[in-house]
Amino acid sequence: MGDAPLDCLVIGAGVIGLAVAREVARTGRSVALWERRSEPGAEATAAAAGMLAAAAEAHSPGPFFDLARRSADLWAGWAEQLLEESGVDVEYQDSGLLRVTTSSEVAGDLEIRRAWQLAQGLQVSELLGLEELRQVVPQLGPEVVAGLHYPGVAHVHSHRVAEALALAGSRAGVQLRLSTEVTGVRPRGELLEVSSGAERQLAERVVVATGSWGEQLLRGLGVNLSPEPVRGQMLALRPRGRPLPEIVFGDLGYVLQKRSGLVLVGATEERVGYLAETTLEGVARLAAMARSLIPDLGPAAFAGAWAGLRPFLESGPVIGPLPQDPRVILALGHFRNGILLAPVTAQLVGEVVAGALEPEGLLAFSPRHILGG
Ligand code: FAD
Ligand code: GLY
Repeated sequence: MGDAPLDCLVIGAGVIGLAVAREVARTGRSVALWERRSEPGAEATAAAAGMLAAAAEAHSPGPFFDLARRSADLWAGWAEQLLEESGVDVEYQDSGLLRVTTSSEVAGDLEIRRAWQLAQGLQVSELLGLEELRQVVPQLGPEVVAGLHYPGVAHVHSHRVAEALALAGSRAGVQLRLSTEVTGVRPRGELLEVSSGAERQLAERVVVATGSWGEQLLRGLGVNLSPEPVRGQMLALRPRGRPLPEIVFGDLGYVLQKRSGLVLVGATEERVGYLAETTLEGVARLAAMARSLIPDLGPAAFAGAWAGLRPFLESGPVIGPLPQDPRVILALGHFRNGILLAPVTAQLVGEVVAGALEPEGLLAFSPRHILGG
């Protein structure tokens, strides 16, 4: 048996587990974070472009859009807090975003998108033509026919986010255990027993933040939920031309420039199981998409490529206590938006750990609502 019982044990040190562990530790509770890999943030989190783009990622008004906006609004303050607590700058840049299209049919969809987003109070331009869009991003290629401008949409550096959260968490008291795969969670009297091989630890609450994994753990808890890995490949370029002033988000992918000067081109969406590798076909598709949006990137130097597995659940994100055992809290299924949704997820799970059963805004994502019970 491990040390004295903990207030909370978090499983999985991706952006979600890291954010939750830090949040809970800040309230003075004892928290451990167990991660099977040898460093934090090594899976989907490390692959992410870091866009905080509710405007481009939500396809209709509703609870997901509300949650994403709420989290986007938390991000600037979160970045400052993380800098203060960890000394790590997560490179928050509110550059703005152009949602562009090369198809006149999609231009019609963008008009519809604009109408509901305006009704939701989002800051968005009129539908702009190529020449107007070029006043924002002069490098846009001639295939672009129309687009919307979202000033203020931000992005961060996902590796720095994981680093900052891990440091801030450990300074707040999180006991991070790497190379420790959780193999079971089961009730033991008033407490939960978490095991990793022969090792055991008791905790009052357990948060499951295992990304694209964890199906078996969940089954052991009587939960029928299968996170599906959706591979995203990303290409990095060292451009030779002018800096790219905003995120350019097209029909087939996006292009953005980080503070280091590196241009990220992402990302594929592929259902190939747990194969987190890059392919010639994937990288070629990204290169063609980037050149169609920004022809200037033709002579850019190849600076790398990688892939990650986005955690997909049909229902969307599932966040909150299990109906059959509220000591177990899920924080899963953030799919394309885990970096964006980390602050709000941490806030909501923090409230649950502190005793709130259904914090405001959580109902649509709660296991009770999604799994029944
Ligand atoms: P992960 O980061 O995968 O972390 C889960 C962790 O749990 C892993 O470290 C894993 O090792 C650990 N684990 C699993 N099982 C166990 C176990 N039994 N015991 C111990 N540890 C375990 N999101 C955005 O918001 N903006 C973007 O621009 C963006 N771009 C993306 C681009 C790409 C190419 C990809 C692939 C994703 C992108 N995402 C983006 C999505 C984002 O990366 C994910 O939503 C987010 O990282 C999910 O975080 P997570 O902590 O749930 O999962
Ligand atoms: N949110 C961007 C991606 O998942 O590729």
